[in-house]
Amino acid sequence: MLIGPWARIDLAALKHNLQVARRQAPNSKIWAIVKADAYGHGLVPVAAALSEADGFGVARVSEALRLRTAGIRQPILVLTGALNREELAAAQHHGLELVVHQDLQCTLLAQANPRKKLRIWLKVDTGMHRLGFAPEQVPEKLARLETLPAVAAIGLMTHLANADDPEDPRTVLQCQRLHALAESYPHPLSIGNSGGILAFPQSRTQWVRPGILLYGASPFRNRSAQACGLRPVMHFQTRLLAIRRQRRGDPIGYGGRYRCPEDMPIGIAAVGYGDGYPRHAPDGTPVLVGDQRAALIGQVSMDSIALDLRGVQAELGAVVTLWGQGLPVEEIAVRAGTLSYALFCALTPRVHRNYQSVEKSDLSLAFR
Ligand SMILES: Cc1ncc(COP(=O)(O)O)c(C=O)c1O
Repeated sequence: MLIGPWARIDLAALKHNLQVARRQAPNSKIWAIVKADAYGHGLVPVAAALSEADGFGVARVSEALRLRTAGIRQPILVLTGALNREELAAAQHHGLELVVHQDLQCTLLAQANPRKKLRIWLKVDTGMHRLGFAPEQVPEKLARLETLPAVAAIGLMTHLANADDPEDPRTVLQCQRLHALAESYPHPLSIGNSGGILAFPQSRTQWVRPGILLYGASPFRNRSAQACGLRPVMHFQTRLLAIRRQRRGDPIGYGGRYRCPEDMPIGIAAVGYGDGYPRHAPDGTPVLVGDQRAALIGQVSMDSIALDLRGVQAELGAVVTLWGQGLPVEEIAVRAGTLSYALFCALTPRVHRNYQSVEKSDLSLAFR
């Protein structure tokens, strides 16, 4: 029996979520964003399962090369582009598409092998103020890039800073700034991230770039994943490795943050911050023991957490769900003062990923 923890990755849910994006943006092509190890879900198995995506988006050239090495042939967009000659040569060799957000990258393209043509995406800073050229710089940059022999085609893209709030007018403004450029230039546009695709029609451009929605978590602060029609992909689980009885007043765990208010049963579950469970999760953070809710008590340790088992029927070895079916990851994120994105990405290599496609009658399990 696997004690845990493990992350069951539901590939059927992943495909379902891609279809949610398709239905929302039926005229858009989709870059499935699989950077950061597919938000902790496993880069290659996720990309293989998302074969119906039109392309994949990663942050770095090294991530794109992992996909190519694994035999992924779809277009791959590198969101931070090539940052030196070696990366640019690798991008040319492997047919990657590159975001261009600063002059250094224009210079690298000017010096690149002219026989290996690249598609590039000029990043426009419409309000995020992280990467990209200001809209008024775009004409000059385009004029330069269009003359370069290594550049085969150019798109215009931007990234939304506030799409986690469907009511935020700044998102509409960002979209308008990119669309205004499109009135003068014929290049395709790419705007929508998950929040944009679901809530801002103006962001459903020729190409969209969903990330978090693919993994079944809500991109919004105030709307659940279920309300968005999404299904959770990651089910992070472990088992109870001990059940104990503590006396009233006993402190639990490092620092004794929690003191037992009465004689009570305590469960110790095999998961800790060494697996990526958030160390700053407070007392009361929910878990499921079987299908019953229980509460975290005391500091999270590296390898274990303590649970208040009052009113919970539990046996040694019972499955404990940290997030997934029945316990949305957003609920844990709010408790721990973080985001679902960060929780997913924090899972460490110690956690087994079990890839499961429940659409097939023979449950296929593959360990990472
Ligand atoms: C440039 C860019 N596009 C798209 C995405 C996907 O965003 P989301 O996961 O919110 O859909 C990201 C993620 O951070 C990004 O940096």
